[in-house]
Amino acid sequence: MSPHRLLLVLWLFVFDRLQCAAYIRSNRCYSCMSMVYKSLFEDPTANMGRYFIEPRNFTDQCNEPNNAHHLGFVQCRTICLTLTQDFVVMGKKTGRKMVIRGCSSSINRFGFFNRTLELFDRYDICRDIKASDLFRYETDSSQTINVCSCLGDRCNGGSVNSGRTLAAQKTLLLLVIAFASLLFSASFEQFR
Ligand SMILES: *[C@@H]1O[C@H](CO)[C@@H](O)[C@H](O)[C@H]1NC(C)=O
Ligand SMILES: *[C@@H]1O[C@H](CO)[C@@H](O)[C@H](O)[C@H]1NC(C)=O
Repeated sequence: MSPHRLLLVLWLFVFDRLQCAAYIRSNRCYSCMSMVYKSLFEDPTANMGRYFIEPRNFTDQCNEPNNAHHLGFVQCRTICLTLTQDFVVMGKKTGRKMVIRGCSSSINRFGFFNRTLELFDRYDICRDIKASDLFRYETDSSQTINVCSCLGDRCNGGSVNSGRTLAAQKTLLLLVIAFASLLFSASFEQFR
């Protein structure tokens, strides 16, 4: 391998690491809960604040944000999550959803089970998880929660896979740069 090539590979490697680091540092997650949770935070008997951390916004826009940019966000060093549960009354689904969006490390006070969260750490995925497998506290029911994860700046704003799209864009950018650099170094060598 010529010194140029070696330098090029080295440079690409460093560039990739730097980009990765910057990317993770600047990660932010939308932070909101459906309106119905607000009363649970305010009601001392419901005690939701004992287990969960108040989000930036209580709003039904959290369910299906058509313009997520109105939602508040938090800095995050881990993945962003969207937790969706059915609004069940008397054992019947009402069709309404209750949604929590946030950074995986700042949604609840006792955290999630590590082995469950590991499922979500590597890919942007959605899974139905039993509450008892998710939350590190005694649960009272076998309800399942739909959990979606993503890595990327404000990726948990509704449309699924926006995090993965970002990662794909990054890879494409790297490929383009690599290709351009190769062309450049090839023509450079020709002139020597
Ligand atoms: C969320 O809260 C911020 C202030 O913290 C406010 O500017 C914004 O309008 C709120 N968004 C919604 C959808 O209520
Ligand atoms: C679970 O993960 C947290 C945060 O990453 C860590 O501090 C803790 O030690 C882990 N617990 C176990 C039992 O691995």
